[in-house]
Amino acid sequence: MILVTGGTGFIGRAVVARLVAAGRDVAVLARRRDARDARARVAAALGDEAAGVRVVEGELAAEGAGLAPDERRWLRERVETVVHCAGDTSFAPRLSAPYVAAHVDGPVALLRALAGGRLERWVHMSTAYVCGTREGTIREDEGDLGQTFHNAYERVKLQAETAVRAAGAAAGIDVRVLRPSIVVGAAPATAGGTPSNLFFAFVRLLAGLARWRADAPLRLEGAPRARFNVVPLDHVAAATVALAACPEAAGGTFHLVVRDAPRQAAMLALLVERLGVSGLRLLDARSEPLVDPSPLERRVARMLGPYRAYLGQDVRFDDTAAAAALTRVGVPSATLTAGDVRRLVDLALLGETPAPV
Ligand SMILES: NC(=O)c1ccc[n+]([C@@H]2O[C@H](COP(=O)([O-])OP(=O)(O)OC[C@H]3O[C@@H](n4cnc5c(N)ncnc54)[C@H](OP(=O)(O)O)[C@@H]3O)[C@@H](O)[C@H]2O)c1
Repeated sequence: MILVTGGTGFIGRAVVARLVAAGRDVAVLARRRDARDARARVAAALGDEAAGVRVVEGELAAEGAGLAPDERRWLRERVETVVHCAGDTSFAPRLSAPYVAAHVDGPVALLRALAGGRLERWVHMSTAYVCGTREGTIREDEGDLGQTFHNAYERVKLQAETAVRAAGAAAGIDVRVLRPSIVVGAAPATAGGTPSNLFFAFVRLLAGLARWRADAPLRLEGAPRARFNVVPLDHVAAATVALAACPEAAGGTFHLVVRDAPRQAAMLALLVERLGVSGLRLLDARSEPLVDPSPLERRVARMLGPYRAYLGQDVRFDDTAAAAALTRVGVPSATLTAGDVRRLVDLALLGETPAPV
């Protein structure tokens, strides 16, 4: 059996859907919230796919991951693989203690609780941005190099990788760390879905400009030559399921990214071409900051504000290990060709935003 945490979230629900479609025996750890129990919330998130899924109530910020003793026993007797997708992705948490508990102590407690039973491997959803503010090429075998971080989120994700690897080594559990860049796809209105929804909102805004004010000038601040590090959700879900099952992936760390992602200027050109918008200019924030912004430019800058630091960072994620492992199991590389961008634009314009639960 595979236990997935974070099954009500953006990435977790896509992973569970794939596992269910592949006929795997799946359990989901979820929490009760807003007077709705875990089962009802998983059913709301997954729809029909939740039918055969066993739901276990847990809270990673609580003692022992919040598992009841009988549930813990039940899981220990069955779970061989944990795919850990739960995580609070807010950059600046209101309280630090429950944030660290949920990211670090809870997963370690869950790993230890299941390690005496059938558990063999732990697949850990981290982020490529454990690299913090580093620039240039980042390798998969690099972790704590004393880097600085943009926010508490990046720091705690690296801390979690280290703690879970140590717990796995002590308990004889194979830990595999997955590090996606910024994931895009139809996202619920969760913290993790925010960057994707923002990207889609930006696409919709451009589409609106193209329709109504084709000649409105719009200057954006970014780093035209920096890579636009997004990766499609479908690829992340497929790669996660495949790497969880691949014996050669044991103990590895994998960047789930678009190799040599397009530069911001190229990405914007693809969007402009697809949407037929004109008057758009991407400024280099370092050498040509935006002066005298129009109300529209101010609105767009505000909208992209939380991700400003990421738009200014020039980083390339090397994915040698991921590409080798995924080729072996037949998962195609993630790409951002003109066709892929067209599909993302269509998803933004036509797709519905899944409901949060
Ligand atoms: N989205 C991205 O672009 C991206 C990129 C790289 C890495 N990641 C990583 O991928 C993982 C999933 O992110 P996401 O985008 O799917 O986020 P999300 O949509 O916000 O989902 C987070 C999931 O974690 C669960 N969770 C949070 N705190 C919990 C706790 N204390 N106990 C139990 N469950 C808890 C949430 O449950 P509730 O429904 O109860 O809140 C939800 O199911 C995270 O670890 C994130 O760091 C995300």
